[in-house]
Amino acid sequence: MTQSAMPQAATTLPLRIAPSILASDFSRLGQEVRDVVDAGADWVHLDVMDGHFVPNISFGPDVIKSLRPYTDAFFDCHLMIAPVDPYIEAFAKAGCDGITVHAEAGPHLHRSLQAIRGLGKKVGVTLNPATPISVLENVLDDVDLILVMSVNPGFGGQKLIPATLEKISRIKSMIGDRPIELEVDGGITTETIAAAHRAGANVFVAGSAVYKGGSKDAYRANISALVAAAKA
Ligand code: DX5
Ligand code: ZN
Repeated sequence: MTQSAMPQAATTLPLRIAPSILASDFSRLGQEVRDVVDAGADWVHLDVMDGHFVPNISFGPDVIKSLRPYTDAFFDCHLMIAPVDPYIEAFAKAGCDGITVHAEAGPHLHRSLQAIRGLGKKVGVTLNPATPISVLENVLDDVDLILVMSVNPGFGGQKLIPATLEKISRIKSMIGDRPIELEVDGGITTETIAAAHRAGANVFVAGSAVYKGGSKDAYRANISALVAAAKA
């Protein structure tokens, strides 16, 4: 992919690994959160699924509230739920530091983003693989984070959809020099992370690629391998 002659963004945000706890052992979720942070995770990615917006059910605010005391790490909450507005406050109170809502979750995206901002949390918007980036045009000055889905949401262990890489670089151009975190979610492994990083992402959600091996040592090795691969 030839790098367009766009000026380098004034803000180069740090590379962050955000393990998705969807891939962790749910029977010991608190320890799994603590271990992955001790193993070098920058953020903890919380995949909330309602069985309606996505064909899977994961966990709600009470589980997140129970996880909060296990770490001070940034809780990066990805709400794959619709409707989303009635639940934003509960996730904020549960201890999410960033709350990301789907542009497809309802008719009033800007109001959802305003609600997150009003609760003092980092504001995120996310879009599914088939959703055009034009949905972002009118909210670029209202968000701190843009999450690009590189798989169709609902399950871990899927393959990254190659067409989403071009989408990442086009969104990076849209962002310009705004200090917006550009996060990619789904199918991030040592094989795919470099292309996603080159495309412009700086935050990488990884579930199966981090939690494989099932021990803190394995997580540490997996995270180091992802960081090394990103810079390769
Ligand atoms: C949607 C979820 C993803 C998923 C990533 O399916 O939002 O975060 O857990 O899992 P991996 O990294 O295994 O593709
Ligand atoms: Zn996610």
